[in-house]
Amino acid sequence: MRVKKAIIPAAGFGTRFLPATKAQPKEMIPVIDKPLIQYTVEEIVGAGIRQIAVITSRGKSALEDHFDLSPELEVFLEEKGKMDLLEEVRGISGLAEFSYIRQAHMLGLGHAILMAEGFAAGEPVAALTPDDIYDCGVPCIKQLIEVFEERRASVIVLGRVDKEGTKKYGIIKVKKQLSDRVFEVADMAEKPGPEKAFSDLGILGRYVFTPEIFEAIKKTSADARGEIQITDAIRVLLNSQPVYGVLFEGKRYDCGNKLGFLEGTIALALKHPEFGGPVRDIIKSLLG
Ligand code: G1P
Repeated sequence: MRVKKAIIPAAGFGTRFLPATKAQPKEMIPVIDKPLIQYTVEEIVGAGIRQIAVITSRGKSALEDHFDLSPELEVFLEEKGKMDLLEEVRGISGLAEFSYIRQAHMLGLGHAILMAEGFAAGEPVAALTPDDIYDCGVPCIKQLIEVFEERRASVIVLGRVDKEGTKKYGIIKVKKQLSDRVFEVADMAEKPGPEKAFSDLGILGRYVFTPEIFEAIKKTSADARGEIQITDAIRVLLNSQPVYGVLFEGKRYDCGNKLGFLEGTIALALKHPEFGGPVRDIIKSLLG
């Protein structure tokens, strides 16, 4: 069971990013010089996966254009002799094989993933939320795939969260700790809050699923807001097969909210080969 396919749910309104997302998809907001979603695509490609399904919705056509060829732009760049840019622009459309699936009704992350059942066609799939930029030596999703290949069961990414985090993320209950970084999951709850949280281990937007996830999603009831949560679907899956969690190694920037986005932008700018030095100087001078 090799993981050859990945799903990126990108249909949401991006309300946490208004007004920037009023007329453009959140996933297209640039972090330095690349749109947010390109970081996720590069993570997937870095894990050896080339088939990517993006779950989109109305108003998201810029995502499709970004990963498509851009013949007029390419001719223009060639004529101007801007070969570096030409190579970069061409590279984007060659990154992977993209499919786009429209989600007409935004009924939650579980429902968005269910839209890709046909794309998965009975094979295991990775799922990655494009809000997060993971900056890891081994791509975060690859760290999960390694555990998936060893255990032949679904795997989720975990990170330690604080009290606030228990309101923002799914939280797991540990059945057994198998190593420093790998846990068998007993149960989980979607954004339980500090009083009801089983642990401080949050689910941070990266998943590798066995094909049975789709049946589990179909059996999952909607929550109080009418949404089908992937966390609830994984609980259904837990009735018939084990699920593992991996504490990832590396850094994660939650670019789905304004402050996390600023943190990610500054951190990545400081590491950037061209801008790192000048950005450090700018920050120093701004701080006086
Ligand atoms: C979703 C999941 C949640 C997970 C989070 C990670 O929530 O439902 O379990 O912890 O992604 O980013 P959302 O951020 O879409 O509300």
